[in-house]
Amino acid sequence: MPGKEGYDLVVVANRLPVDFSVGPDGDLTWQRSPGGLVTALEPVMQGAEGAWVGWSGAPDLAHEPFEADGMLLVPVTLNAVEIERYYEGFSNATLWPLYHDVIAPPDYHRQWWDAYRRVNQRFADAAAEEAAEGAVVWVHDYQLQLVPRMLRDLRPDLRIGFFDHIPFPPVELFAQLPWRRQIIDGLLGADLVGFQRNGDAANFVRSARRLTGYTTRGPVITIPDADGRPGRHVRASSFPISIDSHRFDTLARTPEVQARAKEIKADLGNPATLMLGVDRLDYTKGIRHRIKAYGELLDDGRLDVEHATLVQVASPSRENVGAYQELREHVEGLVGRINGEYGELGHSAIHYLHHSYPPEEMAALYLAADVLLVTSLRDGMNLVAKEYIAARSDERGALVLSEFTGAADELSPGPLLVNPHDIDGMKDIIVAAATMDPREQRRRMRRLRRKVLADDVAKWSETFLGVLSSVPARPLTVDPR
Ligand code: G6P
Repeated sequence: MPGKEGYDLVVVANRLPVDFSVGPDGDLTWQRSPGGLVTALEPVMQGAEGAWVGWSGAPDLAHEPFEADGMLLVPVTLNAVEIERYYEGFSNATLWPLYHDVIAPPDYHRQWWDAYRRVNQRFADAAAEEAAEGAVVWVHDYQLQLVPRMLRDLRPDLRIGFFDHIPFPPVELFAQLPWRRQIIDGLLGADLVGFQRNGDAANFVRSARRLTGYTTRGPVITIPDADGRPGRHVRASSFPISIDSHRFDTLARTPEVQARAKEIKADLGNPATLMLGVDRLDYTKGIRHRIKAYGELLDDGRLDVEHATLVQVASPSRENVGAYQELREHVEGLVGRINGEYGELGHSAIHYLHHSYPPEEMAALYLAADVLLVTSLRDGMNLVAKEYIAARSDERGALVLSEFTGAADELSPGPLLVNPHDIDGMKDIIVAAATMDPREQRRRMRRLRRKVLADDVAKWSETFLGVLSSVPARPLTVDPR
């Protein structure tokens, strides 16, 4: 590990890839958190001299940088007010709904914006501190969109990449944001800005052109220097994220997981059709639309609880944000009503689980499920769809996938596409999935597996970092603009 000279690769993300807990004597311990991003980046981080700057997830947790799994972890401290204004407020009650087609109304508060700026500066300062001269810094997601510009001001020698994990909205929606120009300027501090879909990259380029007047040519935005001459170029392209597909494939083939899948089915009374939904409990995921369609199918008699059941895993998320609290009440009310009406002793219509589960249990659930329902109203990518595919080495199962996911752009044809706003259309597709002929399942699943196993998360990070590294290194004396 380098000392003063710094790290060659610095990742900056809202969350650190570890969970902290306070031990019996008040001492801090940490465990690896199994997020997708860390799986993607760990090999490159260990190969390079890698540091990861992020928040611990708890208030006021101040900790010196420390080494873990071959990388330096650099905790950024947030106090309770900052968590409320920067994380729950501006990130998750302003940007999140705005970037997801305003499914919930975004709140615009100046105090939240001030906190967002201050916290972004703290992340940028920490990254600038750790980066070696000419290092690559990779900034992640909507919580940190000002960091690229702040970092360039501090350290013009760096190569800076940014990846947006969520959708980037059309300019007609983005323009609502009172600080739209500052966000665009923040992102344009990067050399490479990555998105999930071509459409997201195009939305960004269009917003940048409209709001700054800078020249754009295809995916390249040219930022003028101090004299108005063409200066830096910023590239905006799509890099659809993936999962560690081989790890999931291997996990799902283990005898333990296979046995657990059978056990799950048996515990549910061996229904002919087990349908599964797996989501963070988030209003973007279309959970209510899905449950409504399912309830109507029971109503219509097209499905019945003796032969079909729905397992809905809804992992707790952002529980201090109002829209999430309302959603939980709605979903739980709906599940209760449908179960009350259609459930029988020994046969629930919907098994609702407000928990998160380790990958082994998820793999077993995917294997047990005849149909996976992904009905997001808007979703950057949706990795649950890819996990389901990676788990199905038996080439069985049907994937119902919303048109409004990044995964639909990437995986079609193969999934059964749905518009979750069209309840009747979705009901027909759910029935088609439940009754799909095994040969048709195999034909579709084979195609999906080829894609997901080839384009895994290691390839994603290599591709992004490859393009970023081809940006010519800049000496310290160059005008930072
Ligand atoms: C999405 C975002 C991530 C975020 C995750 C969980 O996938 O793109 O940046 O970390 O949701 O949300 P949370 O607010 O718990 O970090």
